[in-house]
Amino acid sequence: MRTPIMAGNWKMYKTVTQTIEYFDKFLPLVENVQSREIVICPPYLSLSAALQKTQDTSIRIGAQNLHQVKEGAYTGEVSAPMLKETGVEFVIIGHSERRQHFCETDQFILEKTRAALASGLLPIVCVGEHLDQRENGQTDAVLTEQFAHGCGGLTPEEFSQVVLAYEPVWAIGTGRTATPEIAQDAHLHLRNLVANHYGQQIADATRILYGGSVKPDNIKGLMAQPDIDGGLVGGAS
Ligand code: PGA
Repeated sequence: MRTPIMAGNWKMYKTVTQTIEYFDKFLPLVENVQSREIVICPPYLSLSAALQKTQDTSIRIGAQNLHQVKEGAYTGEVSAPMLKETGVEFVIIGHSERRQHFCETDQFILEKTRAALASGLLPIVCVGEHLDQRENGQTDAVLTEQFAHGCGGLTPEEFSQVVLAYEPVWAIGTGRTATPEIAQDAHLHLRNLVANHYGQQIADATRILYGGSVKPDNIKGLMAQPDIDGGLVGGAS
């Protein structure tokens, strides 16, 4: 009942020209895919080109970040209304690279999620533990904390628009994927958190994506898990 999402996070890769070349090759490959939503998240500058190339397709385009304020003196930033006007539908929020390199906190993530929703964008909110946290048995506690502070303050109506992404930091770009069982445990924990906060009905409808070294040879095993509803794919996308 949950339509899976396969999302590509291009990070800071691909110029506009490379984006156009990519879609020329990619579109014929996914022409007949109907059983899942495909979301591609290129860098800001390539969003227009991506939107143009995909306009008569079911592929949806997302941004990788946004600023939480509508407009103002925030040099270098891009706001939710600006993204919305271009035709972007999704936005990744709270990716661990942004938490790490741009000091994003759960409070920021909550504000960004609210800003996205207020403009009609669908947020893909990322959570995930570091290696030392996993080794110390803190995974569930970290996810609980990130969820509570990053998403727990939304109304049920707001939260029902949110897509969650479990992205263990130790698996991102490392070639080290979580096993399907490890990922399933974390996804189930997240779904239970959603149920406790927002009720079982919303929990059952929430899509939770797995991200971290997803590749053609490991996606099947991950997707076979009951609580994994898609992938957020970096390098392989
Ligand atoms: P990866 O990145 O697939 O390259 O590990 C995933 C992500 O950062 O979203």
